[in-house]
Amino acid sequence: MSGKKNTAAIILAAGQGTRMKSSLPKVLHHVAGRPMLWYAATLARQVATQTVAIVVGHGSEQVQAYLEQEKINFEPFEVVEQDKQLGTGHAVQQAYPVFTRMASQKPDQFLILNGDTPLLTKETLGSLVDYHQAEGATLTLLTTVVSEPGGYGRVIRGQSGEVCRIVEDRDASSEEKSISEINVGTYVVEAGFLGKALTQLRPQNAQGEYYLTDIIEMAVQQGCKVVAWATGDFLETTGINTRVHLAVAEKEMRRRICQRLMLAGVTMLDPDRVIIDDGVKIGRDTKLYPGVMLEGQTVIGEGCIIHGNSRLSNSLVGKGVLIQDSCVLQEAAIEEGAVIGPFAHLRPGSLIHRKAKIGNFVELKQTEVGEESKVNHLSYLGDTFIGRHVNIGAGTITCNYDGFRKARTRIEDNVFIGSDVQLIAPVTIGEGALIAAGTTVTDNVPANALGVSRVPQINKEGAAARRRALLASSAAHAMVKIHGETKDLSSQPSPPKSKDPT
Ligand code: UD1
Ligand code: CA
Repeated sequence: MSGKKNTAAIILAAGQGTRMKSSLPKVLHHVAGRPMLWYAATLARQVATQTVAIVVGHGSEQVQAYLEQEKINFEPFEVVEQDKQLGTGHAVQQAYPVFTRMASQKPDQFLILNGDTPLLTKETLGSLVDYHQAEGATLTLLTTVVSEPGGYGRVIRGQSGEVCRIVEDRDASSEEKSISEINVGTYVVEAGFLGKALTQLRPQNAQGEYYLTDIIEMAVQQGCKVVAWATGDFLETTGINTRVHLAVAEKEMRRRICQRLMLAGVTMLDPDRVIIDDGVKIGRDTKLYPGVMLEGQTVIGEGCIIHGNSRLSNSLVGKGVLIQDSCVLQEAAIEEGAVIGPFAHLRPGSLIHRKAKIGNFVELKQTEVGEESKVNHLSYLGDTFIGRHVNIGAGTITCNYDGFRKARTRIEDNVFIGSDVQLIAPVTIGEGALIAAGTTVTDNVPANALGVSRVPQINKEGAAARRRALLASSAAHAMVKIHGETKDLSSQPSPPKSKDPT
């Protein structure tokens, strides 16, 4: 791709996307964990040398809020409102003044792309721009040949193969509809021509819209050079109009992500059955079992093993971590060599230090677990700090909520907590303390003390045997108390036998 010409970009993202049947603006529907618009804006930013104008309209508040949030990634860019969506040509008309009033150098050429074509690659777009410049064309459009061209604009070529015009699906004759070369909706247009052509658009078509595609015939009629760059990869050019297309894009994007990661040294037992978002990073020699889902900005270190059906969302995982089956991690951080699961739920604010172990059916929230500490079975720990080399016994629960406020629990280094302990927060267990199994801790426990709160045990000699004997004799007379009266059920008539269900 050459940087010789000043290239601005316009992204069309104002359409309603009626065929999506959604209250969410089309360009905010996700593909591999990111709104479709992210792909268009990132691509435009990579190829353009100047401002990217993004035309928004339908659901513009939501779209603008999203762009605001991602703005450092797309700058310099400008958002343009298209109040009424009168067509793709009308959308470009709204964006054009952004560039005419620019104080800095005016663009030589425009890259125009649809916001609903998320699979388009930098390589293809780069080739389009290169071809445009090499041909010295006024207008270059991206086309491809598809087996089901329905819904797309068809490329009408003349006798010697030259591009004449685009006819939209709804305006096409049945003969034109049989053409399988389609307009992708991606163009490179010389600035001088575009400005004038936009003023000449008229909404004379089946939809009563201003079609951007009309500028192709205009250029031809004005004797300007129009060429097409045909890509063989039709999947890449898929425009998302329905949820069926969305699923196609999702699948293809995930395939690319898995391929990129595998080539970078990640093992996947079945790449068709792992779901990895575009923003995820994974170190080499990490191994993913089927059913793993890695979402958002999750980062996984080298040499980890993640077993089936675990879902990690916006989490950080250090080197050599083992995550066993069916774990859920949300905004959690796990340091090197820790072991998680199976069946662990690490909620936001969970921080697991080196070589700690979080085991079966453990739920953590806003909880830090120190180096080599263990929470192995059946616990809930919330708003808790745990030091190093601590053992948390099975069934230990922090009672962090009194119905009004959350309170914190602090467990210092080398503490041993027996099974089935309740810690009524706020409470601190001092270093090296020992809490006896079954204890309900209501007060702080000093360092190296033994905390115990239990009802003293009594053993009644022979009581078990006496009870058994009593039960055996009463089984003969199935005595039962009904409304205060004792009845002998063994003398009751037996219920009628039910019919054989066959
Ligand atoms: C458009 C092309 C068609 C091409 C297809 C490729 C036109 C007239 N047709 O058709 O030749 O084959 O894309 O996918 O250009 N938009 C606006 N404002 C509007 C209308 C649309 O910003 O007033 C945006 C949409 O948000 C969308 C893009 O433009 O991102 C394309 O609009 P859409 O309605 O999907 O056009 P298609 O019918 O698919
Ligand atoms: Ca479309």
